[in-house]
Amino acid sequence: MSEKLSLVKPREEFIEEIRAFRQEVIDVDDGLFHGVSALDDFEDISAWIRQCRLMESSETLPNPDWVDADEFMLVREADSRILGMINLRHRLNEYLAEIGGHIGYMVRPSERRKGYGKAMLALCLDECRERGLDRVMISCDADNEGSRRTILSCGGVFERSAVVDGGVIERYWISLR
Ligand SMILES: CC(C)(COP(=O)(O)OP(=O)(O)OC[C@H]1O[C@@H](n2cnc3c(N)ncnc32)[C@H](O)[C@@H]1OP(=O)(O)O)[C@@H](O)C(=O)NCCC(=O)NCCS
Repeated sequence: MSEKLSLVKPREEFIEEIRAFRQEVIDVDDGLFHGVSALDDFEDISAWIRQCRLMESSETLPNPDWVDADEFMLVREADSRILGMINLRHRLNEYLAEIGGHIGYMVRPSERRKGYGKAMLALCLDECRERGLDRVMISCDADNEGSRRTILSCGGVFERSAVVDGGVIERYWISLR
């Protein structure tokens, strides 16, 4: 991909872009958010940005049942457009170890099928390496072909399926060493 893309932590200068991203997912994708640190719950984008900061350390987590995590936005440098969001969990709790995995993500509806999902996951895997992770677990719904292919294209190896409320997920591991 020749475009310059980067992962950027949410910050105030992107407030209007974040708001537009959020609204597009609500309008076009029935509000089906993934990997956005509960952006759906926040009409106040500044408050969401503050929450993302608190989520980065186990010492400041707003809820003890959550795990510390980094939220990143995939930004196209040419026009500062937010193309997607991805959440990197620093560790796994019981639920994440079985179902949720280390990483959750989404590409905004108007930018899908252009290679951004793969590019975003690849950039996030670089972040995982920098954090010293040896491997990451990523899951997808068994009928989510787009997510499965994104995971496979970044080196995902199928481990097993798991039954969850209302469906089946597939678990994949990506080795980082
Ligand atoms: C899954 C998702 C992130 C993929 O993003 P994307 O930018 O469209 O993906 P890419 O363009 O990089 O495509 C990656 C691969 O998936 C394939 N793909 C993407 N969408 C697809 C679809 N709807 N059906 C079939 N294949 C699809 C592409 O052809 C490509 O395959 P290839 O590697 O064999 O060429 C995006 O569809 C999305 O945000 N979905 C809603 C949220 C979601 O499901 N998140 C994941 C939760 S587990």
